[in-house]
Amino acid sequence: MPRKLVAGNWKMNGLRQQLSELDALYKAKSDASVGILICTPATLIESAAALMAPGAVKIGGQDCHANIAGAHTGDVSAEMLADAGATAVIVGHSERREDHGESSDMVRAKAVAAHRAGLTAIICVGETLAQREAKNTLDIIGGQMAASLPDGCNRENTIVAYEPVWAIGTGKVASTKEIAQIHNFVRERLIRRFGEEDGAEISLLYGGSVKASNATDIFATDNVDGALVGGASLAADDFLPIIKALENTA
Ligand code: PGA
Repeated sequence: MPRKLVAGNWKMNGLRQQLSELDALYKAKSDASVGILICTPATLIESAAALMAPGAVKIGGQDCHANIAGAHTGDVSAEMLADAGATAVIVGHSERREDHGESSDMVRAKAVAAHRAGLTAIICVGETLAQREAKNTLDIIGGQMAASLPDGCNRENTIVAYEPVWAIGTGKVASTKEIAQIHNFVRERLIRRFGEEDGAEISLLYGGSVKASNATDIFATDNVDGALVGGASLAADDFLPIIKALENTA
């Protein structure tokens, strides 16, 4: 069975005072059947990781540069994230692909960097509304997977997140039928490329407007091993019920 995980993506939100949200999560956490990861802004990783250690709640980054170090003003390397206490990093989020023009080739280089630094790469794929309406969803997801996932992905170092772009931050959620179709497709591709042993065990997260009210149905869907949660990860009161919902299906 792939590992069950709820990952929070704080995006560009969070000042030090918000670390009390993590404290609440930490105290409430009792069931080890579900992993919890919070991807904070880079500025908070070190203090969040210190606050959580040693604990069930892990801390991650939201992006990394492909290189170890060098003249890349404003960028942060995977090694720096690991040094600050991160255990994972999101790469290829649609907001990075869109706002920063990141291609799947760049995403793959970032995933290689994450693996090099000993971080789990959470590699995001997802179609836009126009691509869905043009009935190109599977082609887009298949293409993003082929180009964004490096060789050497395995169940320890990689998680794939399917996030339809039109469902992110919009309150629109893909139907469980749509989610099942894509997740089954992603699973098949993972097995074909990385073999039964790893392909069947890489965790597959759904993301896009996941909240307490829809989490149970989403988690009951085929090949959904958890969620990547944006808005509803910012407050423990919203995030904890999502973790509970996954624990109840685990
Ligand atoms: P959302 O964001 O839960 O706010 O839709 C999800 C994401 O972008 O990872």
